[in-house]
Amino acid sequence: MSEHIKYTDDWQMNDTVRMYRDFGPCIMEATISDELYHILWSNALKLREQKRPETDHRKFLAGNIAEEYAYVNQFSIEEYKRVENELIWFAREYSYLAESQYGFKKPHDIKEYTDIKLAKPLWVNFQKKHEWNPPHTHTGALSCVIYLKAPYDINMENGVNESNKHSNTPTAGKIQLSYGQSLPYSSNSVLHTPKEKKILMFPAWLEHQVFPFQSDVERVSVSCNFIGSFKMEEGE
Ligand SMILES: [Fe+2]
Repeated sequence: MSEHIKYTDDWQMNDTVRMYRDFGPCIMEATISDELYHILWSNALKLREQKRPETDHRKFLAGNIAEEYAYVNQFSIEEYKRVENELIWFAREYSYLAESQYGFKKPHDIKEYTDIKLAKPLWVNFQKKHEWNPPHTHTGALSCVIYLKAPYDINMENGVNESNKHSNTPTAGKIQLSYGQSLPYSSNSVLHTPKEKKILMFPAWLEHQVFPFQSDVERVSVSCNFIGSFKMEEGE
């Protein structure tokens, strides 16, 4: 019987092969509205122009960046309402997708989506050439970064500069988010290229860093954190 079996290499065409790597933290990317962009950018320019001492946010941040301002008493009531509504929508969307797509747990202080609150203040980083943001984490439950300016020249460096173009990891102006160890068949980080008007949402505990660049331009980003307001009672 067995001598009639013809062996072939058909298994090499096996279309049931699927690679899974559904571990680790969720990172969400989305596009903010033109209205939110305008509010954040116009007020960022005012912060820089006014340089009120209470808006100097450098001592609270890891960034090795000369201009980091907090939006302290900066927005009008209407502007802040708009900022808060849109950003909370993104944070809730993140939480919903992490749970519905992957079954990931929410933090203990977020039971319902309405428990997600925006933490004050938001802040803006004007990153210039040779400046950087070393590895750090944020406080709260969720964090986001919004790109107001992500000049083309910075990303071009990765393809043309002698210092980058031969590297197997060109990183000028990129953000790297890291989690766990780098092991065989396992990655512990993701590199992301900023794009104007995009928002990245990630868990506040997720370590991240921003690499320097050499072009004489500015990379401008806004960040903020979200907290959970749910308080667990004893016995729950
Ligand atoms: Fe950060």
